[in-house]
Amino acid sequence: MTTGIKRIAISTGGGDAPGLNAVIYATTLAARNRGWDVVGIRDGFNGLLRSDDYADGGMIDLTRHRVRGIIHQGGTILGSTNRGNPIAYPVRQADGSWAEVDRTEELLERFAERGIDALVTVGGDGSLTIGDHLHRAGLRLIGVPKTIDNDLDRTASTFGFDSAVGFASECIDRLFSTATSHSRIIVVEVMGRYAGWIALHAGMASGVHAILIPEIPYRLEPVAELITQRAQRGSTYSIVCVAEGAVPVGGGRTVAAKAVGQAERLGGIGSKVAAELEALTGRESRAVVLGHLLRGGSPTSLDRLLGLRFGAAAVRALDEGHSGVMVALNPPTVDYVPLAEAISRQKTVPPDCDSIQTARDMGIRFGDESVAAG
Ligand code: F6P
Repeated sequence: MTTGIKRIAISTGGGDAPGLNAVIYATTLAARNRGWDVVGIRDGFNGLLRSDDYADGGMIDLTRHRVRGIIHQGGTILGSTNRGNPIAYPVRQADGSWAEVDRTEELLERFAERGIDALVTVGGDGSLTIGDHLHRAGLRLIGVPKTIDNDLDRTASTFGFDSAVGFASECIDRLFSTATSHSRIIVVEVMGRYAGWIALHAGMASGVHAILIPEIPYRLEPVAELITQRAQRGSTYSIVCVAEGAVPVGGGRTVAAKAVGQAERLGGIGSKVAAELEALTGRESRAVVLGHLLRGGSPTSLDRLLGLRFGAAAVRALDEGHSGVMVALNPPTVDYVPLAEAISRQKTVPPDCDSIQTARDMGIRFGDESVAAG
């Protein structure tokens, strides 16, 4: 099949995730081995929408030399942003306020001016929703699922998740010794947006005593009961892992901030839970927020491999004439699914899944248990 492709671009949008550079590496080599030219757009689409702000015009020539040695590096050599949605681009008004402007047509013109025949867009639900929009507007495009949150549907996993879980688990392991030494409750808050995957997997892998996730609204009484029972049995410390998006029964999410052109920023639930557990149990509590530490650092070998497989599959998809699809892990293979399907729903933790059942069998509490009367 002749695709007519001579030049492709790669863009990385939204929060960074370990494994992005492996995608860039594989996409570049797979494309160059087909004789295609490859460029990287800086900071999502800002390299094209605000090219005058960049000394290099907002694009990086992705040569074999430029991508050499980047597989193991965290972050993205292209830069990223969560303030560059071309459909609702934040533009400051004369009175100092911000408005959201649709810059889709302008962006498509920039792609044409730069001789870019197709785009590989690497992102989470936000960036892939933009990708679906650009595809419908006429751009040849393949999506690659990225996020530490693992909340994208139609792929068994996203890259970045394994690295985030591994590091969260390592941190929680360390908190055990200090919690034990001081007979404290330690509440660890982890990222994950509206899904509890990171909290569930890291919490289970480290053997915490309670896990609070957005999918199971919680009450703290059952958690306090367990902590008190443990103390009576001589275990005077307890560790609770709470997802940033967890919600109390009848309550809302804990939002740290909301700015124009950005998704709401979650954060702060760990301190609340620690204070309430201290009040309920009378035991000293501390909160630790792992935050962006989960996005940093070198990807695990699993995320590197997933990134390489996704990047190469994106190029194969273009070569086979696809557009408007997302590469997806469908073990044991990587295949393609329509972008529209992938973004139509968020993949959250099924409350009856075997991991939750396993955790309950281990005695881990989720805050939905009934409490003994009295
Ligand atoms: O989607 C990835 C993620 O790290 C979420 O887990 C978190 O809620 C959000 O991004 C934080 O975004 P920011 O870096 O913009 O604060």
